[in-house]
Amino acid sequence: MSDVRIRPMQVDDVPAAERLSAEAFLDVDRRSARRSWPEPELRATSRAATWIARTEHVLRTDPGGCWVAESEGEMIGFATSTVRETMWILATYAVRPGLQGAGIGKPLLEAALHHGRGCLRAMLSSSSDPRAVRRYHAAGFSLHPQMFLRGRVDRSVLPVVEKVREGTTSDIDLMDSLDRRTRGAAHGVDHAFMLQHWRLLVSDSTTGSGYAYAFPEGGLALLAADNRLTAARLLWTVLADGPEEAGVAHLTAANQWAIDVGIAARLDLHTEGYLALRAMAPPTPYVHNGALL
Ligand SMILES: CC(C)(COP(=O)(O)OP(=O)(O)OC[C@H]1O[C@@H](n2cnc3c(N)ncnc32)[C@H](O)[C@@H]1OP(=O)(O)O)[C@@H](O)C(=O)NCCC(=O)NCCS
Repeated sequence: MSDVRIRPMQVDDVPAAERLSAEAFLDVDRRSARRSWPEPELRATSRAATWIARTEHVLRTDPGGCWVAESEGEMIGFATSTVRETMWILATYAVRPGLQGAGIGKPLLEAALHHGRGCLRAMLSSSSDPRAVRRYHAAGFSLHPQMFLRGRVDRSVLPVVEKVREGTTSDIDLMDSLDRRTRGAAHGVDHAFMLQHWRLLVSDSTTGSGYAYAFPEGGLALLAADNRLTAARLLWTVLADGPEEAGVAHLTAANQWAIDVGIAARLDLHTEGYLALRAMAPPTPYVHNGALL
């Protein structure tokens, strides 16, 4: 396309970006054999509202990391990214289905990457779309396969878990220090968003420290700990408090402790996408979030 303009994202663009991303990811799901059952669906209204709130948060904290591709006054793609301490993070990246593979994504990703030019490290969670994988590889990212667990939790094997409590804003310093130890950079201002939308669990005892955020509908959103025992304790709590049908996404081979928990809970293990990293190894014990990593 010849008339494509790359420009900074504005807050008014966010609802259109949400619909574009929902359509692009539905298209990825449909192309993926793994997702053939259940039938892939367009993102539900409740999840769309959280997507919009998260993107508004990212745009507020990192206006220089959020870019739109436009043609004839219409959004045809976008990329949103953040810088947290010395880390660049890609939150979302999509081009309208039907226009993909024509070179629109390349300058969008370059604009977002420019926001992180002073960073030492970078991370993002890649879909299985071969176009996305090509872009990230060309941008110097190493690719680490992601696994996910899904199934019905066997309640008869749930262990008695102690030393896990509800977290509050007073845990932010502890969480930032765990993030620095595991992934090399704190989440900082992201905790305001996460505390508002997700449930926080904290374990802080003589045997170790860790935290986990759980989605309101159940399922793990993010987890960091200073040892595997504490990490496993937190994951067991998320599974015990969650619905019958559980899902745990974004597991890397560096986090076998999470696979151990999931298999013990009788969940099934599958693969999906990649954790893409620059200048770092897959964090552990750590389960990243798909957008805030
Ligand atoms: C990922 C995405 C944003 C990239 O945007 P794009 O406009 O398609 O990207 P570009 O056209 O600039 O680059 C795509 C690359 O894949 C190649 N490509 C095109 N069609 C392809 C196909 N069917 N299979 C494999 N590679 C393909 C292109 O040649 C290009 O590689 P090259 O620069 O080495 O030649 C877009 O494809 C998309 O929205 N995908 C679905 C959503 C998604 O997965 N987003 C990423 C989230 S992590």
